[in-house]
Amino acid sequence: MIDAFQREINYLRISITDRCNLRCVYCMPKEGVSNLGHNDILRYEEILRIVRIAVQKGITKVRVTGGEPLVRSGVVEFLSALGDVDGLSDISLTTNGIILEKLAEPLYEAGIRRINISLDSLIPDKYRAITRGGDVHKVLRGIEKSRQAGFSPIKINVVVIKGFNDGEIEGFASLARDNPYQVRFIEYMPIGENMDNNDFQHLSNDTIRSEVARRCSLIPREDAQAGNGGPARIFRIDGGLGEVGFISAMSHQFCSSCNRLRLTADGRLRACLLSDESEIDMKTSLRTGCTDSHLKELIERVITMKPRGHQDYHQKGARKKCVRTMSSIGG
Ligand code: GTP
Ligand code: 5AD
Ligand code: SF4
Repeated sequence: MIDAFQREINYLRISITDRCNLRCVYCMPKEGVSNLGHNDILRYEEILRIVRIAVQKGITKVRVTGGEPLVRSGVVEFLSALGDVDGLSDISLTTNGIILEKLAEPLYEAGIRRINISLDSLIPDKYRAITRGGDVHKVLRGIEKSRQAGFSPIKINVVVIKGFNDGEIEGFASLARDNPYQVRFIEYMPIGENMDNNDFQHLSNDTIRSEVARRCSLIPREDAQAGNGGPARIFRIDGGLGEVGFISAMSHQFCSSCNRLRLTADGRLRACLLSDESEIDMKTSLRTGCTDSHLKELIERVITMKPRGHQDYHQKGARKKCVRTMSSIGG
């Protein structure tokens, strides 16, 4: 599927739940977000039906996200069923790692090989503050277990926020130097209804990269596999085991190469992370007995809605276009 701006759309991100066992300060208000009811979220069979049709339209890669995807019951069986869909060459998962220790092996056995884990601080008290109550040791044990199980690559996502964790760049660079992980520094994106009013200050990845480069020699990876066509710029650490990456959504836009569609937990197909206007409801059609060709048409229609980019997103007033929270879209 090629969109109006000559981008090939081959990657679907699926949020299977908006629920989460953490409350990261940059993602949710402290009281959490109103959770969708059982009937509001797509059933696994409904998601699988959409995926089968999306594959016919050119989707080859799927990433399962949340909220926290591992809190939805039946997730391992669902991932295994995804693995049985003909035509998918890559199935991956993004998790906060809190309950990964016990699930790493079953996930690997279900056929998942690539995993991205959110980890914003290595210091227990700071991690607890950023996630409003999380235990970093659980995540570290989950990462270790994933490594033992054989996952590769293991990507660690670090959203950098001034005053919270910008003092830990060196610690994260060491983590990547000493372990076979890809540690990715992510610029905070002000997403969600109230997120424009918070105090989180933007820290450019250029600054972070200079800080990392003062301590390690970085060798850019330019090969096709480097970022899986994704938003990260990847560097090997000279003499180290791992890599660092930079996802710079705010300072450097990567929309011109965006290959993604998103399926939200409540069954809406979304053409752009940052635009509430580029969404189509799939759930109502699914539940009123629509045909496969109707679903195909909906997918085609949403691709025509994919904007060129999010140029106007940088102007404060324009941000109301993304009032949905990250946890319901799936990042
Ligand atoms: P792979 O490239 O398949 O490893 O996945 P990924 O890095 O895209 O997935 P992940 O769920 O780990 O997301 C990492 C960060 O990138 C999150 O902060 C996402 O919100 C952000 N991200 C992913 N895709 C996009 C995108 O299309 N646009 C923007 N602005 N941010 C994105
Ligand atoms: N800006 C940037 N990244 C975010 N994530 C969640 N909210 C935001 C935000 N506002 C990240 C999480 C997770 C990934 C799916 O998205 O840390 O790693
Ligand atoms: Fe949960 Fe991820 Fe949001 Fe943190 S960023 S509260 S782990 S959904």
